[in-house]
Amino acid sequence: MKDVLSAMEQRFSTRGYTGEKLTKEETDCLIRAGLQAPTAANRQEVHITVVEGDNPILKEIEDQKNLERAVQNPPHNFYYEAPVVFLLSADKSFSWGRLDAGIAVQNMALAAEGLGLGSLIIGCIRDAMTGEKKDYFSKALKLPEGYEFEIAIAVGHKAAQKDPHVYSVEDNVTFL
Ligand SMILES: Cc1cc2nc3c(=O)[nH]c(=O)nc-3n(C[C@H](O)[C@H](O)[C@H](O)COP(=O)(O)O)c2cc1C
Repeated sequence: MKDVLSAMEQRFSTRGYTGEKLTKEETDCLIRAGLQAPTAANRQEVHITVVEGDNPILKEIEDQKNLERAVQNPPHNFYYEAPVVFLLSADKSFSWGRLDAGIAVQNMALAAEGLGLGSLIIGCIRDAMTGEKKDYFSKALKLPEGYEFEIAIAVGHKAAQKDPHVYSVEDNVTFL
């Protein structure tokens, strides 16, 4: 298991996975990492829906995303054939829900890296999830009443490599 600073430094968006499934222990660890994230006022409102990569609902979401974005024959699906996708939703009446989901998803990304797994945070399906088929997808994914999709994360064994992104302290930080 990597320490948290190493996981932050070494994590990268993984856009290719082997077919190997996660163990129950790995899945449980990722779920716990998401739920251990802090939430505003300790509301703990973030909900996680665990979807196996071969669940047909993912193809339906992919098709809707492509329809809305007028994409034809994409070279890969939105989760790059990962063995599992976690969809995070939050109470849409709570103004911190999206931020809480973002913090939870990053906890999960770092936990995945710590376990030696790859991950990809996914926002590109948001319009599909919250558009005209919102009620259909919310029901199919069993989102709690009044909840809305916020963010997803695909996790699996890495079959693609990429350097972590570069950044500039000079451009992005002000010291007073
Ligand atoms: C909120 C959010 C949404 C993202 N959505 C997608 C997505 O839909 N598809 C994708 O391939 N990458 C997505 N990414 C990954 C970013 O493109 C990636 O984090 C960024 O290019 C930096 O690369 P790195 O993660 O390898 O450091 C998303 C990242 C964040 C934080």
